[in-house]
Amino acid sequence: MDKFHLLFQNVFSLLTPLAATIMTEKKEKYLNPKASVNQRVNDVLERMTVEEKIGQMMQVDHTAIQNNPSDITKYFIGSVLSGGDSEYLDNSTSNWANLHNLMQSYALQTRLKIPLIYGIDAVHGNNNIYGATLFPHNIGLGCTRNAKLVEKAARITAEEISATGIEWDFAPCIAVPRNIRWGRNYEGFGETQALAQILGAAQIKGLQGKSLKDPTNILACAKHFVGDGGTTNGIDRGNTEEIEAVIRKIHLPGYISAIHENVGSIMASFNSINGEKVTGSKYWLTDVLKNELGFDGFVVSDWGAVDLLGDDYKDDLEMAINAGIDMVMLPFRYLDYYNAMMSLVEEKKIPMSRIDDAVSRILRKKFELGLFEKPFADRALEKEVGSPEHRAIARQCVRESLVLLKKKNGSLPLKKNGARILVAGTHADNLGYQCGGWTLTWQGGSGNDITVGTTILEGMRKAAPEAQIDFSETGDFTDTKADYSVVVVGEKPYTEWYGDSNDLNLPDDAVELIKKVKNYNNPVIVVLISGRPLIIEKILHYSDAIIAAWLPGSEGDGVSDVLFGDYSPVGLLSNSWPKSMEQIPINIGDDNYAPLYEYGYGITSFKDSPTRTAPNFLSSILTGAGKKIELTFDKPMKDTSSAKTHFVITKNNEPIRTEIRTSLKPNDDTTIVLDLDEELSKQDEITVTFYFGNVESSDGAQLETFGPVDVVK
Ligand code: GLC
Repeated sequence: MDKFHLLFQNVFSLLTPLAATIMTEKKEKYLNPKASVNQRVNDVLERMTVEEKIGQMMQVDHTAIQNNPSDITKYFIGSVLSGGDSEYLDNSTSNWANLHNLMQSYALQTRLKIPLIYGIDAVHGNNNIYGATLFPHNIGLGCTRNAKLVEKAARITAEEISATGIEWDFAPCIAVPRNIRWGRNYEGFGETQALAQILGAAQIKGLQGKSLKDPTNILACAKHFVGDGGTTNGIDRGNTEEIEAVIRKIHLPGYISAIHENVGSIMASFNSINGEKVTGSKYWLTDVLKNELGFDGFVVSDWGAVDLLGDDYKDDLEMAINAGIDMVMLPFRYLDYYNAMMSLVEEKKIPMSRIDDAVSRILRKKFELGLFEKPFADRALEKEVGSPEHRAIARQCVRESLVLLKKKNGSLPLKKNGARILVAGTHADNLGYQCGGWTLTWQGGSGNDITVGTTILEGMRKAAPEAQIDFSETGDFTDTKADYSVVVVGEKPYTEWYGDSNDLNLPDDAVELIKKVKNYNNPVIVVLISGRPLIIEKILHYSDAIIAAWLPGSEGDGVSDVLFGDYSPVGLLSNSWPKSMEQIPINIGDDNYAPLYEYGYGITSFKDSPTRTAPNFLSSILTGAGKKIELTFDKPMKDTSSAKTHFVITKNNEPIRTEIRTSLKPNDDTTIVLDLDEELSKQDEITVTFYFGNVESSDGAQLETFGPVDVVK
């Protein structure tokens, strides 16, 4: 070879890597992590075909694609999710990571190698993994009023999601539930926008961390925008019939705080606002959310919500995308979506500017997550799932979520040494029940093999090994003499519209169980497991103490920590607690607001009411075939049979003229019995007022005027 060619060859061989670098720099700026996110977004957008852009805007469920994953490559699918009921039989952490990585591998075989983003509902810990740490549902976290703790719980959740490689969590739910008939009441923090703002932002902070690039940080998704908790009669996915000022006052502030916290995505809601479905509302999704509030992340529609906009899917897509939906949670019909979108773009019914805006929003988050550099699961994180450290934080969340509603002197805390404790109830030893919905499956389940955790009974036995703790779900004990009887009852798991209900009375079998156990003449401590306040007037009189434990999750020993007084109760109600179904909806600030227990109520000390302080009225009930009224107080009372007393009883708002004889109830010196000459019926509205008279507690404190109080029939 002559000198010239040799020279050329050498020079060229030097130039090639340089050229390659320049070319790489020039050719694929979007693959250069040193380039700014905006540069990378603009660069890749320029390179994308319409098909690739449309692909980025769709999200399919893994069950729709797992048998033909190459369609991820073929249709440039930008996102995969596993919906609540998308069964994934082997739900170990490593298998979830295998599924994630499999899906991702097909996305990386596309021409531009744009990674997909995988979303999941991890709404009280990573509730999809067997053995994950499960926290109290948001209603309980709302009662903690502890934003730092809520952030910590979300941080742990982010770590236990990251172990699977999944990058996106459809949380926080910042619904502001205004009607506890709603089956999703427990997914919200409580009935005020303040809780949605403060605790929603805390959860976003915990999930997203300081920079999304951190391998354990997860893209958050504030949901469901907007007004999901305000539907008439609490109907899930119903119609929120409110003037805009109320939407803006109650349901919007959570999103303002979420945007301030740089939430990466927001999920549009199924519900309508005054008849207009939010998923198709340009006003709410673009004019308000994006333009007025400046949201720069992306908006994802809810599960098949676009299909429900109208009768024609192509029209639905046109409406939803032009309204401001950036990513469509299909979750199955990706061919229909693909073909319809191609036509809509060709027919210019969706402007390319809208497509480019949506794709840019999605890609920006993928670049910020570092997905192009680290698209696969970091297996080293697996060991963190369900760790003792994580469970300890969840246990603290349980403790701080409990609300002590009632406590008669001496009923709590439970003694440990040498105590005999009877435990009864369907929810005392049932991990599934205490976790509620969104637990391994969409609707949750029953039993202790549902995942790894500690039931309330197990927690009690661990906390007091020297106590004799006997359990009978039905409350049947050969020897009923004990220091205490603890009854754990409540709601069975439900999710979404399965939990919509017009009957929130504590189930009759639970009421009968509590009455039965009360007859054993031990102090009765009732622990309620529920996704909302329940109508409990029927048990008030038979309970010496009542704790609202909500849906505590996997760490039931947080309940025993408080029962035994190792920790004091600190929880404050995040929902108003109604006396009856007729009072619902009832929210703080309502006119004539008179719930059984107010928003923000909670007894935060175990101290018995000090001696010689006035006894407090706790509950009343009509007994003795309608001729007796029992009044129970928080401490023992002196015999009143010789006392001159002045009580007034009304029947249907009219005072009744009857002689009233008073006495102490046999076997229960905290209860005064009013014996009447007139018979009252269960149909009557009955109240009692105590004006004056020589009625004292046994430690000599005068009973003060109280009432009128409702008499429970
Ligand atoms: C459900 C819920 C939503 C959830 C989504 C994906 O229908 O409305 O909260 O994130 O589908 O499972």
